[in-house]
Amino acid sequence: MASLLALFAPSPPPPLSTDYSGTQFAWRFLVFRPALFVPQAILLLGVLLYLAIALYGKHRNQRTADALYNALHPLLARNFSAPASSSGLIPDGPTDFFVFSTGRRAVASLHTFLWQLYDLRYQPRDHLTLDFLLDADAAAALPDFVWAVINKSELTTIKDNRWDLTFTRTTEHSSLPPMFSIMSEFADVSDALFKLHLSPSTTLSTLLATPPSLTYLRSLSITDQPHERPQLAASYVAEKHTSKRVFLDISIPKQPSDILPLVDAVFALVDILAAGKVSLRPETKAKIRKVREDIEKEIREEEIREKKEEAAEDKKAAKRKAEQDKIARLSPVEQKKLLERNQKRALKKSQAKVVRKA
Ligand SMILES: *[C@@H]1O[C@H](CO)[C@@H](O)[C@H](O)[C@H]1NC(C)=O
Ligand SMILES: *[C@@H]1O[C@H](CO)[C@@H](O)[C@H](O)[C@H]1NC(C)=O
Repeated sequence: MASLLALFAPSPPPPLSTDYSGTQFAWRFLVFRPALFVPQAILLLGVLLYLAIALYGKHRNQRTADALYNALHPLLARNFSAPASSSGLIPDGPTDFFVFSTGRRAVASLHTFLWQLYDLRYQPRDHLTLDFLLDADAAAALPDFVWAVINKSELTTIKDNRWDLTFTRTTEHSSLPPMFSIMSEFADVSDALFKLHLSPSTTLSTLLATPPSLTYLRSLSITDQPHERPQLAASYVAEKHTSKRVFLDISIPKQPSDILPLVDAVFALVDILAAGKVSLRPETKAKIRKVREDIEKEIREEEIREKKEEAAEDKKAAKRKAEQDKIARLSPVEQKKLLERNQKRALKKSQAKVVRKA
């Protein structure tokens, strides 16, 4: 600190070295030689550039988010009695925004997120996700299953943060454009879903083959399982009938209104699912039920195992503590003796090991 203050205290100017040939500015006894400050200048420039990029990025994100919000809001407003909270689009960190909508039949809530993800190559990718949580009636009308259609470019990463999709196998489907894959538990589920009419002229497969889907769709999933693996069997059972959702993940369009037909169709899809239009074969339903029962058992067993391990760990710690307490109560001489005895024992053990190795 003292040396820092000394920097600001008036002091005789340091003698200037004479072997400087660059430009210099002099005023009375102050001499400024720019060539000596090149590293600092570069550093300062770097910091300024970083700030400019961060500010520009923030501004750009806000603008993108606002444009999307303005495009989506009329649709949300027509569908929900509470399309957004009073503050509208809610920022959540420098790159993320969300809207929370409630008050619509079949839907308990809709979370619309706008967020940025860095992939393995650290390229930012903008996502717009609509997470429809079905209400209790809608959930009851829809059989249990996990199903998704996904752009192949997402295949390598999607299972990392979607535990529910680990239930599925990835396949191709003849009624889909080749850029998409299906993730399904059983073929019967895909067949039942592709038959659905979202409107008199659109089925799920024609929707997926039209431009907004082809350009923007990353994934569309219908799932009865949570995105994250539950730790407790009790919470798994409790959430069983309250976690059915339809999840749409798309990339951010240049022209926000481009995606409206797709979002609209997903609203229609939600209504059709809620109307009980998906019927699976009894064998499929039985198989799906079996998978869930097995998972529940697995989670329960793991929970018990962890509890046992914890208890054993606690017991060990208690034993160690009791031993230490006992030693602490001994006299210094006795403590020394004990220490020597333990060292001897450890030495003998290590020698025995060496002998056995040899
Ligand atoms: C939801 O919005 C879409 C798009 O504007 C509209 O076609 C549909 O009728 C709305 N649904 C309800 C239930 O209001
Ligand atoms: C879908 O995949 C193709 C390549 O398979 C890729 O070029 C395109 O960007 C992907 N679309 C989205 C929305 O991720």
